[in-house]
Amino acid sequence: MKTEFKISTNQNFFKEKADAYIIFLEQKSGFFTHEDFSKDPHLTELKKIYPHIEILLEKRGFNAKLSEIVALPISINQGHEMCILVGLGAKKENFVENYRRALATAIRSALSYGATSIVISLLAAEDLTMGAYKLGKETAIITEMTCYKHDDFLTTDGSKQKRFAQVILITENQYKNEMEKGLREGVIIGESVNEARYFVDTPPSHMTPIIVAKHAQEIAKKNSISYQEYNLKEIQQLKMGGLLGVARGSVEEPRFVKMEYKPQHAKNKQPILLVGKGITFDSGGLSIKPAQSMETMKDDMAGAAAVIMATAAASRLNLPIHIVALAPLTENMPSGTATKPGDVLTFYNGKTAEVKNTDAEGRLILADALSYGVKNYNPEFVIDLATLTGACAHALGPFYTGLFTTNETLAENLENAGQKSGDYVWRLPMGEDYRKAIKSTIADICNIGDSRVKAGGTTAAHFLEYFVGETPWAHLDIAGSAFDVPGIPYYAPGATGVGVRLLIELLKEMK
Ligand code: BES
Ligand code: ZN
Ligand code: ZN
Repeated sequence: MKTEFKISTNQNFFKEKADAYIIFLEQKSGFFTHEDFSKDPHLTELKKIYPHIEILLEKRGFNAKLSEIVALPISINQGHEMCILVGLGAKKENFVENYRRALATAIRSALSYGATSIVISLLAAEDLTMGAYKLGKETAIITEMTCYKHDDFLTTDGSKQKRFAQVILITENQYKNEMEKGLREGVIIGESVNEARYFVDTPPSHMTPIIVAKHAQEIAKKNSISYQEYNLKEIQQLKMGGLLGVARGSVEEPRFVKMEYKPQHAKNKQPILLVGKGITFDSGGLSIKPAQSMETMKDDMAGAAAVIMATAAASRLNLPIHIVALAPLTENMPSGTATKPGDVLTFYNGKTAEVKNTDAEGRLILADALSYGVKNYNPEFVIDLATLTGACAHALGPFYTGLFTTNETLAENLENAGQKSGDYVWRLPMGEDYRKAIKSTIADICNIGDSRVKAGGTTAAHFLEYFVGETPWAHLDIAGSAFDVPGIPYYAPGATGVGVRLLIELLKEMK
């Protein structure tokens, strides 16, 4: 079931029929007064139902701190519904993030009361500082994201995710068109984020390389994106020794997926290349992981999911940008046929690497995809997304994606896109001292860094750098941000879909 989003300019909020009514309030230093409630027309309506609302709120200590909620039963339109007051916190730099979180918290509250339709008061579009377009967009994205849960395998009553049949946004006539535009785009972005999450959350034996490729093909077909995939034999013919070296330990065949979105109105002469790490399960291979570290390793394809879904979203949004997305897909498993520590692999571009640790497998498959992409597409720039290193996750925690690049323009554009989209990035260093750490005595480079250099996220980035040559390139390490991000109400346990919002924001801003 899809949620229907609708805009209404009906200033009498409670006249719209719904199960729950959501009103946002900005934080006060003291408590709300009678006067505060006479300023906002929706609050005035509420005051007719609860004449002493300010006393009620003060008794509860409610002064609209971020995500603070008061849910009031109301009898209107011959029904018994809920009115949810939610705090936006104090106005500060990143107020949009406050709005996202307040909205998500209110949505969770409405869902917990069994609401199937909600009305959201966005009367104060101007007061919310972001403007009607952004407000519509964020409202749609966050509603979609908050209503996501992977429930394919939940069989008991009531455990399936509930969604709204209808969401009505109330605004003023002057904001209607802009808000509608934002809503339409937001729905596409939110759905794409959720589809990326679905890829990642689906258990690894149900989302093997062949199955990922099949889904990617269906998505491409639906969105007029050209699609090509290479099977084991074809990957052998391409001499992608990295992808083959990782895949050889598994009974599941690898795939190499290529998607191309080339609109007639494309602004860029050379395509943008997106590359996503697609390890459908990372056991570590012969350098096997301890049990606890392996528990979430179905998420090791989050980069692939992000580039597939960002490309799909770009097409649905009709962005004037030529994009090529590549996803090398394989499991990383130990077996009698697996690559051994000490083995040397030869990549698509003829370069070699010594594999000292088979758990540093992401860079091996990305090396082939990156060198294939730069050679065959001569891209304007390359961005890769990968759940690449525990080191990066430990450095930044789950709230930022690690950004590695030597290109200042890309760094700035990605940082801006991160700030605007909510997929925040934090730049980490690169440079000659680190570059030396991946030397090998028997191959061109080694797949793990000198242990004295320690910075595992950076040495991994330098390994990738070796395969992009002079092409402007940025690497996004999403090991921390792709899965199980705590404390953010629009996420659920499991995948976050990180990267989709970021890439769409970046591509939209391209000149
Ligand atoms: N997929 C992991 C990285 C990872 C860790 C992703 C935690 C998500 C959460 C990657 O393949 C890996 O195992 N990297 C090793 C590299 C090391 C052997 C140089 C790591 O980070 O320990
Ligand atoms: Zn690994
Ligand atoms: Zn991995």
